[in-house]
Amino acid sequence: KEITDAPILIIGSGYGGAVSALRLCEAGKKVVMLEMGLNWEKSGIPFSNMLKPGKSAAWLKKKTIAPFMNIFSLTPFTGTLDRMDFEHINIWVGRGVGGGSLVNGGMAVTPKESYFREVFPDLDAKKFYSTYFPLVHKELKVNVIGEQFLKDCPYYKFTRVGEAEAHKAGFKTIRVPNVYDFQYMEKEYKNEVPRSAFNTEVIYGNNHGKNSLDKTYLKKALDTGNLEILDLHCVDNIKLNDDKTYTLNVQQTDTSGAVVADKVFNCKKLILAAGTMGTLKLLLKSNATNNFPIHEQIGKSWGNNGNFMTGRNWVKPLSGGTGAKQSTIPVGGIDNWEDKEHPFFTEIAPLPMGMDVATALYLLINRVDKKGEVSYDSINKKLSLNWDQSNTAKMKENADYFIKKMNRANGGTRSHFLFNNGFGADVCYHPLGGCVLGKATNEYGKLNNHDNLYVLDGSLIPGTIGVNPFVTITAIAEYCIENLIRQNEFA
Ligand code: FDA
Repeated sequence: KEITDAPILIIGSGYGGAVSALRLCEAGKKVVMLEMGLNWEKSGIPFSNMLKPGKSAAWLKKKTIAPFMNIFSLTPFTGTLDRMDFEHINIWVGRGVGGGSLVNGGMAVTPKESYFREVFPDLDAKKFYSTYFPLVHKELKVNVIGEQFLKDCPYYKFTRVGEAEAHKAGFKTIRVPNVYDFQYMEKEYKNEVPRSAFNTEVIYGNNHGKNSLDKTYLKKALDTGNLEILDLHCVDNIKLNDDKTYTLNVQQTDTSGAVVADKVFNCKKLILAAGTMGTLKLLLKSNATNNFPIHEQIGKSWGNNGNFMTGRNWVKPLSGGTGAKQSTIPVGGIDNWEDKEHPFFTEIAPLPMGMDVATALYLLINRVDKKGEVSYDSINKKLSLNWDQSNTAKMKENADYFIKKMNRANGGTRSHFLFNNGFGADVCYHPLGGCVLGKATNEYGKLNNHDNLYVLDGSLIPGTIGVNPFVTITAIAEYCIENLIRQNEFA
């Protein structure tokens, strides 16, 4: 087996991994990053759009795995979108250099300060809102759509209809910032540049316009000359050595998923940034197979960030519905968070199907009243999740309230076209928690019971943050890595 020694290893190239890499590289450290997905930029393979799913559409699957309408066959390829299926919930994640930033909708939402304080009572919220969130907005290139463009552009009819209907039903709407470059979007509308958001590109990757991590944090980190990214390298398990260093068993694959090399990596310092589910799998599996020490809090306080999908059919069919042409980039949201009975936030989501299906799609984000727990099933060798309908009961009540209020004011029915009973309780885009900051780790993400292991990704957030999570994940990672470097953890 090929053996590589690296002083600092990072597993995963999503938000937590990318932030850690940049700040360590800037501090002059040599960093090796292992990513199981493909380096799409280097491969030169274009991303496919939603109407013509191809190589990038799914992680080693024979059929597409979007939340609905999976009518497309595929040749298995290490695509960008993966789905982990559990009995009561399906969890979508991004794979590839850039992690979830390759497949997500780019919605860059800062949590409400009051909720951030509630979720993280021990953090200095003032410092987050004055320093880390503004820093993250700058690094991620967060921007806002021009109101006049939004008003005029036929691709945003679904947003305009959604907002007008929400107002009629008595709800408050908000403009949602994004990392998609809206100046680029205005040019693509005029056909001055190739189309991406207006060409149904998003959950299988964007060829243009979107400032995913490979164009921001990772690019800056590579420019220092201190970062090496090894793609198609999947970490199978971790061992703790007597001298407190780590040994990783890694499989290098080709794009069909076949293993081309079994490798061993040794490191002094290890950063786990494999995303909530990836990090939990590595910790729990290594514990089950290698006696890897883990703290009792690992797997606890897991949540779906209150994700609950729902939709409405026959949305204003006579006035042309929600539009045949739809941008893939959401810019509108309904903010009902202050309602004591039914607190939720919802994205007015696009449904770019190439025809007007007069259907509105919503991804609700609720509080998570009842958290779940992740463990490892040693017999079937996979993660198991303690999560069922009781965890989403209140979310369903909120969705029902929302849909009924919208339909009463505007007409329409609950969408049986999109979901079996009109409710997608099992759709999760935002798995969070299981390795909570200050509980399973110290105050800066250093894992309890370890001297040289750090967790820096969505698993630090205790299952809920009230809005789409990547801005918060990035800010927490900035805060942790800044303090870890200051404490000479990587000296
Ligand atoms: P992230 O999941 O980004 O990265 C982890 C990386 O580690 C992946 O690249 C993975 O391949 C790699 N990895 C895992 N296991 C490994 C192993 N064993 N070996 C090597 N590599 C391994 N959020 C938001 O704020 N706004 C939005 O609009 C959306 N929209 C959205 C749409 C869709 C379809 C999805 C699936 C998700 C979103 N999200 C979102 C969620 C957001 O993308 C997500 O919360 C973050 O990407 C999580 O960041 P992390 O750093 O935790 O891990």
